Amino acid sequence: MVWSTIMAGQREPGRRGAHLRAKLAAGSSAAVKVLSVALLTAVAALAAAVAMLRAAVRLLARAGTLLERAGGLMDRAVAALDRPVGLLRQAITRPPPGPFRPGAWRSPLRGRWLTSLLGLVLLIGLPVMVLTGLLSYAAYNPRLLGNDQTPGAPLLKFFLFSWFTHPSWIYRTSQGIHIALGLALTPIVLVKLWSVLPKLFSWPPVRSAAHALERLSLVMVVGGVLFEFATGIADIQNYYVFPFSFYTAHLYGAWVFIAGLVIHVTLKFPHMRAGLRSRSLRRELRTSLAQTRPEAPDAEGLRAADPAPPTISRRGLLAAVGGASVLLVALEVGQSIGGWTRRTALFGPRGLSAAQPGVFPVNRTAAEAGLSDADVGSSYRLVLTGARTVRLTREQILALPQRTAVLPIACVEGWSYAASWTGVRLSDLARLAGIANPGTALVESIQATGSFRKTSLSAPQVNDPQSLLALRLDGADLSRDHGYPARTIIPAAPGVHNTKWVNKITFTENT
Ligand code: HEM
Repeated sequence: MVWSTIMAGQREPGRRGAHLRAKLAAGSSAAVKVLSVALLTAVAALAAAVAMLRAAVRLLARAGTLLERAGGLMDRAVAALDRPVGLLRQAITRPPPGPFRPGAWRSPLRGRWLTSLLGLVLLIGLPVMVLTGLLSYAAYNPRLLGNDQTPGAPLLKFFLFSWFTHPSWIYRTSQGIHIALGLALTPIVLVKLWSVLPKLFSWPPVRSAAHALERLSLVMVVGGVLFEFATGIADIQNYYVFPFSFYTAHLYGAWVFIAGLVIHVTLKFPHMRAGLRSRSLRRELRTSLAQTRPEAPDAEGLRAADPAPPTISRRGLLAAVGGASVLLVALEVGQSIGGWTRRTALFGPRGLSAAQPGVFPVNRTAAEAGLSDADVGSSYRLVLTGARTVRLTREQILALPQRTAVLPIACVEGWSYAASWTGVRLSDLARLAGIANPGTALVESIQATGSFRKTSLSAPQVNDPQSLLALRLDGADLSRDHGYPARTIIPAAPGVHNTKWVNKITFTENT
């Protein structure tokens, strides 16, 4: 069988070749077809890619044109802004007319030495002003109920302590210094400001962030000093023109000024040292007007760029400022010292009325406080409240053990007056109200209005043997203007805490 198959294969070679040839021919035409399709597809893809590329190029070209147009528009906008920007730049860098012109200030006396000398005097005097001012605030015992005229700002009260009762002249002295020194420094502050006036008008007003901060500290120190001195001087003249409370404004103003001054002194101290070394005070005091020359130019521009010929010597200027200071103090300080010097206190608000011997100054009269005859007449009663309530007529108060103490009344305005007071110890009155170990006391006045109608006293004040409810002054009954029928007198307390026309005292037990 196998053999027959082989033989059959050998027998049909021609038929099989033709079949193979036909098969081959069919295969090659399919391959050609596939190849041509692939070729056509590639050509089509290439054409599509070329078309897309062209489209992209066209798009880019259009975008380019748009950008070009936008650039042109921007150029035109910038060109349009160029003028105002240029004008603005010019306005900032070119000083305006008047005091801003560099040549406007020509005094040949201005210069680093003069400013430094005046700065040194202020550096000695101003801290004393600050200290005595803050002591005056502490003297009001602002932590006690109702005593604080400056609500809020608890952070500013960090330094407070219970005010002393001894020595009894402490408030008289510290407040006397505050007022006298304030007056003495007034001309010096004004001349110091005059010496740096050109700097206040320097142009441009702000050159950098650091310069802006320095300028802010100058607003605080210049604004602060002018505000403090203006309100203080108006107050000592009893000239209450401000639409705000003097106490609140003067205290807050002081803190703004202190902050500005600390920054200013920190920045200027090295300049001051260099300035003081640049000239000799002794030589300057020997230099006449004819020999007076401008100071050397300084980097800060305190010296005038083009100084005019001098019309006064530096020693003349210093003598005028010093003389003004001495004169102001001489016209005021007698009201604090007392004795014959009281006659010289023409600048004191009470003028010569307080200069007459035995005439005790009065800040607020009974009439000004709105007191009537009935208030202080036979119906007057003193109400003492503690563990029990006691009502006393004036005669009953006079029948209690009487003590005498020589104590000054010292006013916040600087005047003070020492006198002999006779009355009952506050601690004795507390015991009468059933308080064995007295703490604080709230003292009230008959007057219906006024900031100091009520005053809280501290335990040391109530327990001091010299703290009295006084009925007599210098051996005679109190006059109505001095607090008749009865008033308190507390050693070392500010004048307004010695309440006049007292009709009620509430004592607390010391816990
Ligand atoms: C009431 C207090 C004071 C006021 C209102 C005041 C005001 C001024 C002002 C406005 C300037 C010009 C600042 C500038 O633009 O550069 C100045 C400069 C100056 N101050 Fe005062 N000042 C006071 C106190 C002091 C004190 C206590 C010192 C002591 C260190 C002092 C030392 C100086 C000095 C040395 C300059 C010149 C600075 C320089 O060379 O750049 N000042 N002061």
